[in-house]
Amino acid sequence: MWGNALRRQLGAAVLVVGAAWSGMACNEKGAAPPGSGTAVAAAPAKGGEALSPAVLKEAEEVFNSRCAVCHGPRGAGDGAASAGLTPPPRNFQDTSWQTAVSDEHIEKIIAYGGGAVGRSPAMPPNPDLADKPVVRGLREHIRGLAAK
Ligand code: HEC
Repeated sequence: MWGNALRRQLGAAVLVVGAAWSGMACNEKGAAPPGSGTAVAAAPAKGGEALSPAVLKEAEEVFNSRCAVCHGPRGAGDGAASAGLTPPPRNFQDTSWQTAVSDEHIEKIIAYGGGAVGRSPAMPPNPDLADKPVVRGLREHIRGLAAK
């Protein structure tokens, strides 16, 4: 399973984020075991929309495989491929950025890339995800990376 290996590598930070998600999804009762593939109906996430645990889990996977290389595993903007990028990959822990940015903008830049929203084209588009719920899952993941 992807989860065990990655969790070992990324350590406590990912576990903390994972715990925050379960909390957000109000999924303590009747949680499906990881990997069961059962989409348990979740209470609305911040923003009033329901994201299933399966979508949030998929978003974590996608973040680790596609985004962490630049944004860093904890979203600090310090991924291995961030060196030399100007402007640098966004630091998602920055609370003033979190407050200022809209959910819609986050979803749009993920789907269509920096070039589509007047940002650096070094932020790549993800056309294969554009119309999928995982884009909203990634937005929630990013929200969860804000410094506490
Ligand atoms: C090749 C490096 C790279 C990868 C991979 C990458 N990004 Fe980015 N990302 C950037 C850079 C550079 C910026 C800063 C763009 C700017 O400020 O002009 C950025 C900015 C962002 C922003 C903030 C936009 C803003 O207006 O402040 C979000 C949200 C984001 N990326 C999400 C993601 C997600 C989610 C993924 C994975 C699906 C991802 N990025 C993958 C380089 C990358």
